[in-house]
Amino acid sequence: MRIQASKELFDRAQKSLAGGVAAQVRSFALPHPVYFDHGQGSKLYDVDGNEYIDYLLAYGPLILGHCPEPVVEAVREQAGRGSIFGAPHETVVELAEKLIELVPCYEMVRFNNSGSEAVHAVLRLARAFTGKSKIVKFEGHYHGWYDNIYISHLPEALSMIGLERAPWAVLGSPGQPESVLEDIIVLPWNDLEIVERALKEHAHEIAAIITEPIMSNCGVLPPNDGYLEGLRRLTREHDVLLIFDEVITGLRVGLHSAQGYFGITPDLAIISKALGAGYPIISWGGRMEIMQLIAQRQVIHAGTFNGNPVCAAAALATLTELSRDNGAIYEKMTALTTTLKEGIMERAEAHGIPVRLQGFGPFFGLLFRDPDVPITNFREALDEYPGRYARFRRALLERGVHIFPTEKGLWYLSAAHTEQDIAHTLDAVDGALATLKD
Ligand SMILES: Cc1ncc(COP(=O)(O)O)c(C=O)c1O
Repeated sequence: MRIQASKELFDRAQKSLAGGVAAQVRSFALPHPVYFDHGQGSKLYDVDGNEYIDYLLAYGPLILGHCPEPVVEAVREQAGRGSIFGAPHETVVELAEKLIELVPCYEMVRFNNSGSEAVHAVLRLARAFTGKSKIVKFEGHYHGWYDNIYISHLPEALSMIGLERAPWAVLGSPGQPESVLEDIIVLPWNDLEIVERALKEHAHEIAAIITEPIMSNCGVLPPNDGYLEGLRRLTREHDVLLIFDEVITGLRVGLHSAQGYFGITPDLAIISKALGAGYPIISWGGRMEIMQLIAQRQVIHAGTFNGNPVCAAAALATLTELSRDNGAIYEKMTALTTTLKEGIMERAEAHGIPVRLQGFGPFFGLLFRDPDVPITNFREALDEYPGRYARFRRALLERGVHIFPTEKGLWYLSAAHTEQDIAHTLDAVDGALATLKD
């Protein structure tokens, strides 16, 4: 694999761009990051001219693939009419209306540019609405990198406290003030009894429970039967808000997001990385009486770039594509994903390498774990074969397949992936698995 131009760019970048990358996760490398030149459809092309089938999809947003024509056209058209007004416009209103049609909990919405910002907004709103300050989050869940919620996410935190210990709130980065820990209660995910106990003792000080409806930050972990229903029932009983962070699952699991898929309606939600098909726009919203605090300017929500016309146009075009024929695109993406998953399992079995795949619709997690043992929470998802995933990823890159850089092992498919892509990928997987036996 020729990566000389990437190496030269990396050497150059390190002198001006901290670590040579614009966000930490991009620095996971072999032995340095690959720098890309352009993308088209399901493919990415690096600065050395290598072509890759892309299953990272920029960590999720590119649900229609790279440069989907209807989105590019909408952006081009809007960019020629004004990129930002610092004032409202019709496209953002239309977008809000369309989202309210699609997302069960949305009665009113607002927009931000990133998931972290949106999480920040809903947590503030939940505290204001309930008059309480504590937030329950679950161990291993990632809700963005802001100080008050980037807690108990990384495996490093667990090795500090020892696996046998109960989950506790651990800061994720130097520089976060210790004081934020006072307002967070960390619980293990998928254990309703523990949530019930926590609410019985602390509901008087808990504003909200925030959770991904499908835990998607260490593989793809489904909620146990009855878990989301239980969270919904318990939060109602104890006057605590339920927030679904659908930054990943929103518009990915299906047109109505995970809340539609499971038929559980939270009080507030965030939807989604995929909303702008690669343009930075995220919606959040929920019950009218809660959102009234925003509408009536009692709770502050701001942001120069929020809901700007270019991103709003991209999002509207994305929703139009996703909604076509009542979301038929999801069936196509899911069918291809099933073929890919079955093919990976067959090859893993043939090589005698334990691989566990878990997923929903067009995304899944690949973990080097016992294929027959379901993974239901963060601790169970911890890597059993250190280094194996990194070798697998490198071997796939060398064979023209671009996947998630870390052991979280998420694979995203887009509407642009084809049967030929899957066939090529399965050959690459076969070759990559063979290298793991050395
Ligand atoms: C579930 C979840 N919430 C929040 C975020 C933060 O989003 P962003 O990276 O856009 O700030 C992410 C990012 O991956 C996420 O996966």
